[in-house]
Amino acid sequence: MLDVIRLILLAGHILGLAAIVGAFFVQMRAKSGHATGVVLAGAITQVVTGLALVGVREAADLGVDNVKIAVKAVIAVVILVAAILGHLAAKRGRNVRPFFHAAGGLAIVNVLVAVLWP
Ligand code: HEM
Repeated sequence: MLDVIRLILLAGHILGLAAIVGAFFVQMRAKSGHATGVVLAGAITQVVTGLALVGVREAADLGVDNVKIAVKAVIAVVILVAAILGHLAAKRGRNVRPFFHAAGGLAIVNVLVAVLWP
């Protein structure tokens, strides 16, 4: 049962990643009209599913690499802050691009940390 929950959370985790990185790839050269809501939803999804995955893995005695998770969590929080600020900037008609690029670029960094960290 825990394994089914873990895999469902992992699917959500991959979809959250797709939301951030997908929007970033499509709109990285855009001057306006950035999908800041999609990036914000993805950033929230990553923090929520990531923390839940840690809990489920601990409950299932699978354990986690604490240093790796701490690094991912710090980067994910920075992504979330950038996503919030980007969404607010879009609502106020301000420049969104630095926040959009920070969120997208750091999400790619977190993919590399997740996959390449031994
Ligand atoms: C934008 C932020 C994030 C991205 C892009 C990301 C990316 C990924 C990817 C690609 C995987 C699958 C590869 C693997 O298992 O190593 C993964 C798994 C995982 N992530 Fe993240 N992650 C993010 C944030 C977080 C956060 C904030 C946490 C927890 C605080 C977290 C915890 C985990 C855990 C525990 C797994 C292993 C799941 C399992 O196989 O049981 N992630 N993440």
